[in-house]
Amino acid sequence: MDIAIDLGTSRTRLYIDKKGKVLDEASVAAYSVAQNKIIAVGDEAYAMLGKTPDSISAEFPLAGGVIAQSFLIEDMVNILLKHICTSRIVMPRVVAGIPGEITEVEKRAVVNAISSFGVRRVYLIEDTKVAAMGAGIDIMGPHGVMVADIGAGTTNIGVLSLGGISVSKTIKIGGNKMDDEIVKYMKQKYSLIIGNPMAERCKKAIGCLVDPDDEITFRVKGRDALGGLPRYVDVTQTEISEVILETGMEIVAAIKDVLEATPPELVGDVYTDGITLTGGLSKIKGFAQLIADNTDIAVTVAETPEDCVINGCGEAIAYISEVEKSTGAEINPLMAAY
Ligand SMILES: Nc1ncnc2c1ncn2[C@@H]1O[C@H](COP(=O)(O)OP(=O)(O)OP(=O)(O)O)[C@@H](O)[C@H]1O
Ligand SMILES: [Mg+2]
Repeated sequence: MDIAIDLGTSRTRLYIDKKGKVLDEASVAAYSVAQNKIIAVGDEAYAMLGKTPDSISAEFPLAGGVIAQSFLIEDMVNILLKHICTSRIVMPRVVAGIPGEITEVEKRAVVNAISSFGVRRVYLIEDTKVAAMGAGIDIMGPHGVMVADIGAGTTNIGVLSLGGISVSKTIKIGGNKMDDEIVKYMKQKYSLIIGNPMAERCKKAIGCLVDPDDEITFRVKGRDALGGLPRYVDVTQTEISEVILETGMEIVAAIKDVLEATPPELVGDVYTDGITLTGGLSKIKGFAQLIADNTDIAVTVAETPEDCVINGCGEAIAYISEVEKSTGAEINPLMAAY
């Protein structure tokens, strides 16, 4: 049995060879502070966010696409893998997606977290490449394709051709930054203290980057900053749009940077075929349009964009098996193997 893992800043997804995606849970671990022991991971731990007593802490162990708290991540990955690996007769090979531009130490942390489960081998492959594969794009041809994977903590943008990444850029900006902006705005404008989960709910419900509607509203519930009592405010799509637009434009600017650095022949292909968006944040209303308006290139959002990375990692498993079977070698030219 081989496994693919997308260790995302907000969600962890697991895939089993020939079965497809088998798990999709929040990248959160809750632990007892006194005993230094994990008490819950995934969606169960997410439900505890912002509600824990002093004795328990619930945290996202990843930030900006990389491991920020290695002691939590190992336990989280192990417990989630245990959920899906019922039989341990054969040690699995694991393909993991990683953001671009990460350091060797950060890569090693991913490998260590997965290896502690007891695996045969870990293959790391860049998110941009697997996102394109998962979106159903042929990355092996001599044709340039552009993909932007817009997640919670990172945005990975790349132009690919002949199975490789020609130009790429990774920025530590994504949906989490929009949530932070909403939290700040609610405090400054309405003296309402809210947590990030509430901000995320608001963003998902009415977030919009082009042509917002004043009539569309969302009830944001929180605590009054002065009185301390529970209170709510109905916010409009128009005001939330203004709050999150700057982050949207930072992502647009990064896409333009990549286009400017792309060799002319490849950029010609991108103009013809357009840009494909993957990652959960690409689902926000108007993002494709915002990018198209600012680049004059057609933009499409992949089908179930949040699953492109995990599905692409899953496809990579099959590719490894093929190469290993046909050559007898364990080395894969497509990815860095550890
Ligand atoms: N329908 C939606 N509308 C707006 N935002 C959404 C929607 N669905 C998901 N998101 C946002 O997309 C982000 C999660 O995307 P994704 O699952 O691709 O990220 P990730 O893989 O966990 O993070 P990263 O790749 O940055 O490490 C979150 O910020 C989430 O709020
Ligand atoms: Mg991701």
